[in-house]
Amino acid sequence: MRILFLTSAHNSLSQRLWIELGERGHEIRVCIAATDEAMIAAVSREAPDLIIAPMLKIAIPEAVWSRCLSLIVHPGIKGDRGPSSLDWAIANHEEIWGVTILEAAAEFDAGPIWAAHEFALEADSPAKSSLYRDQVTEAALRGVLEAVERIESGEFRSGAWRPEKLSDASLQGSPPLRGCLRPPMRQAHRAIDWTHDGTAAILRKIRAADSAPGVLGTLLGKSCFLYGAHEEERLKGPPGEILARRDGAICVGAVDGAIWISHLKAKDDAREATCRLAEAGLGCELCDADLCPVAGIKLPATQILGPLLRGAPEASLPIDAPVDHRTFREIVYTEEDEVGYLAFDFYNGAMSTSQCYRLRDAFLHARSRPTRVIVLLGGADFWSNGIHLNVIEASADPAAESWRNINAIDDLIFEILNTMSHLVIAGLRGNAGAGGAMLALAADCVYARSGVVLNPHYRSMGDLYGSEYWTYTLPRRVGQKQALELTQSCKPIGAPAAREMGFLDDAFGEDAKAFETELRERARRLARDPELRSMLRKKHEKRLDDESAKPLASYRAEELEWMRVNFFGPDPAYHEARRRFVFKGNPPKGSPAPIGAAVERAPFVLSEGAA
Ligand code: COA
Repeated sequence: MRILFLTSAHNSLSQRLWIELGERGHEIRVCIAATDEAMIAAVSREAPDLIIAPMLKIAIPEAVWSRCLSLIVHPGIKGDRGPSSLDWAIANHEEIWGVTILEAAAEFDAGPIWAAHEFALEADSPAKSSLYRDQVTEAALRGVLEAVERIESGEFRSGAWRPEKLSDASLQGSPPLRGCLRPPMRQAHRAIDWTHDGTAAILRKIRAADSAPGVLGTLLGKSCFLYGAHEEERLKGPPGEILARRDGAICVGAVDGAIWISHLKAKDDAREATCRLAEAGLGCELCDADLCPVAGIKLPATQILGPLLRGAPEASLPIDAPVDHRTFREIVYTEEDEVGYLAFDFYNGAMSTSQCYRLRDAFLHARSRPTRVIVLLGGADFWSNGIHLNVIEASADPAAESWRNINAIDDLIFEILNTMSHLVIAGLRGNAGAGGAMLALAADCVYARSGVVLNPHYRSMGDLYGSEYWTYTLPRRVGQKQALELTQSCKPIGAPAAREMGFLDDAFGEDAKAFETELRERARRLARDPELRSMLRKKHEKRLDDESAKPLASYRAEELEWMRVNFFGPDPAYHEARRRFVFKGNPPKGSPAPIGAAVERAPFVLSEGAA
């Protein structure tokens, strides 16, 4: 079928559907739909057999749905309606939630139901973004495939099967439908009362708003949106007071304990007069940090609060401290059966200069241990998304900070590539993009959860050439032709296709738990394998051969030469693309960007010596 996606962003869910439908032979076009006119024009242009809206924040106009069957992915159970489904599900302690595939109709979210799938919600409130990338994506995929199958089999056209009308579902359902129409969740619903709310309630409020819009609050007198909440079991202190700092996060006291907040986005109250919502008398009632014209960049909390935090004690924890209580830790090292596990759960998978160096130190620690296998676990949500574009944007000199950050991630990868004492496994529990995807290739074995989406390319970030030794590691795995195709076409790939082309060694595990269980079993077996010594010897020999054919330093120098042009050259493409990305397509006016004439573009030709 010819399928058109109408979506507000081609995000991880949309990319996953694109991959899975594409693998089933469907031809898919993606329209980033911001207006009715754009949707109508896309439908006229593409003449699709079916429209799917994976994540559409606006209604599909009648001129579209009356002309072509249009299915909407709604992240709620049957009968649920409204734009804040997941927010309410988390806030209301729902135990079971789901995804419904609805036909677009005159009434928003109330069209006939094509498919509905449910899942259990964890008791200790998942963050909305994690829920979306994990269970919602899996349920949406099942629902969309089921709906497409109904169309393809002719069941629907022949009248043998009809989608369920919401009114029928409400009347005939037994037990009655739990889903109902809910209003948009406002900042007033989300507000934290530090003198009254307990830690569980605060966690729930912040997690229901993660990654957007965040919870608007005041910390040390500063207005900001709060993100990335973690429970703290040991530190205690007065409610609302900052008790400690660790790895960019702050620990805030609550009536019954404390919580960590990892990220903040500042809101400039002084400039509130320039906010059209406030002008219209709506203030922050409707405020969404992504749309707020006076909100800054989402950054580590300590960076936003800066000097206001003077006196807040540093509560650092060694990476190998026992995991015996709930707290916030970005990097955790554990050992089990001669295997060292290094988890690095960086918010959104973004790795700043200091995070890269902390991770490199942690890796060197893992390598110094008398284990035989090291498993790099990345984060639970994301494996890695490469250098930290937000921290770069916020720095006084973004070009210089980009340079420091790319060198820091290269320094980490250099150590992984030069590890001869251990076999290194990359275990991708979550998605990976750009330099984060290339980071995985530094390992000897690369495994991923079956549902992982990979974006192993840089070009869409303003023609960025990329480093991370990709010109060495990528062709070595997938061959020169495929390496060029991957880096130039900028398409997402699913784990099974990545395994097929050699990017991954294997993909398994229907969910994160199944993946990790199998991953640990494989690592354990490898550590006990009598052949391990010979595997390590062969790895060493291969590295020496490769080094004499072309030193790693040369790969790095060539990549960085192009990156220097990207960062410091006269063409501002990378700086502009980064600003658009960081400010969600809406960078503040008058922002500085290097100006200059067009410069020679990186040719994306792999250098000699690449396999
Ligand atoms: N630096 C800072 N933030 C990043 C990031 C990075 N490298 N990569 C992703 N993020 C943030 C996004 O801004 C978003 O933030 P939010 O919490 O405010 O919504 C969040 O991570 C999720 O990203 P999103 O784009 O919604 O996720 P996705 O799964 O739909 O898409 C990617 C994944 C990798 C395709 C996309 O995030 C991307 O292009 N990232 C940039 C990668 C890059 O160019 N890195 C630099 C070169 S090494």
